[in-house]
Amino acid sequence: MHPVEIRPNIFWVGVNDRSTNLFEGLWPIQEVGVTYNAYLIKDEKNALIDMSKDIFTDDFVQELSDLIDLKDLDYIIVNHMEPDHTSSLCRLRELAPNAKFLGMQKAISMMNDFYSLTENTEVVKHEDTLSLGKHTLKFLYTPGVHWPETMMTYVPEEKLLFTCDAFGQFGVLDGCIFDDECQNMAFFEKEALRYYSNIIAGFSRNVLMALDKIAAYPISILAPSHGIIWRKDPTRIINLYRTWAGYAQGPAEPGITVLYGSMYRNTERALDQTLQVIGQRKIPIEVFNVSITDPSFYLPSLLTKQGVLVACPTYERAMFPAMVRALDMAGIKGITHKVAAYFGSYAWSGGALEAFNGYAERLSWEVVGTHQFAGSAKENDLQQIQQIAQKLVERTMKP
Ligand code: FEO
Repeated sequence: MHPVEIRPNIFWVGVNDRSTNLFEGLWPIQEVGVTYNAYLIKDEKNALIDMSKDIFTDDFVQELSDLIDLKDLDYIIVNHMEPDHTSSLCRLRELAPNAKFLGMQKAISMMNDFYSLTENTEVVKHEDTLSLGKHTLKFLYTPGVHWPETMMTYVPEEKLLFTCDAFGQFGVLDGCIFDDECQNMAFFEKEALRYYSNIIAGFSRNVLMALDKIAAYPISILAPSHGIIWRKDPTRIINLYRTWAGYAQGPAEPGITVLYGSMYRNTERALDQTLQVIGQRKIPIEVFNVSITDPSFYLPSLLTKQGVLVACPTYERAMFPAMVRALDMAGIKGITHKVAAYFGSYAWSGGALEAFNGYAERLSWEVVGTHQFAGSAKENDLQQIQQIAQKLVERTMKP
């Protein structure tokens, strides 16, 4: 792609990744892709903000070389050390021998850990400033958004904040890079939520602290390192982040995420009959079969809805393995303080119910009811399950 001047002498230098199937080796992006954005500021001193992923280094270097002789690069600002932004570092070190790598203390030690880089590095601290000439860089420490070394870089002269992972989205850029050029903002907001719930949500407490920090600075442009640049309405995504980060600790929106798994449709039949009852209550419900749905796609629902209905059988004295994966991921991503219920079938012994109660306790989920049944659900079982589901609806509608 070609560089784009986003403000005078400040350039977007990004690449579209349409070839990676799993972001972080986990999250499906084969249908939407992702971008790695970096930014070049040309001034008396030249600075590069963030880098790119190794498999795109050739494209990235070409974009930079269209703008500058890399030997004239003075600083490389490392907002975040995750390799989607830094695995081109070794090549840049060779091509830009006069550039100094700047980052928080933890980032500098990670540069050694990941790339054996120990020279030409410099630690910056929260609210340190660096003059490039006409532009100033101010470094804001925002640990946990996404890793503990992460910072953002602010340019006061332009009210421009380089935010790395924060406010980013999955999805490639099909010809435009700004929110005001984009004809499909609903797609980017949906992918911003998926990115938040998949990548950032486990650090929601840190997100709230970071939002408080950046609130002290006027912002005209938010320039993340994934996806579109927010210049028409940066407060839109800032407000969404505050909402989503709050949901991680509850309460969230009225609504129920149904996670289910079923081996021979005994649990699934009971679920269908239960949904026929609670479906009349006009409460938003999203249903996911955890056996065939990647967690990437139900985490947004789990994060944003207050209720969780877990329906799965016991599997060899334990919880159905696909549900174990789902609830483990909910724990990793800090999906706490939900209102929840469980039901499911067993053949000769229970196990899933005990496991569910353990998850609920660890995640601070309030359990409104549980029921397990041998084999297929009988009329009495269905009545109990539907009573529990009605209770879940009531409780979810009153956070
Ligand atoms: Fe885009 Fe946490 O890396």
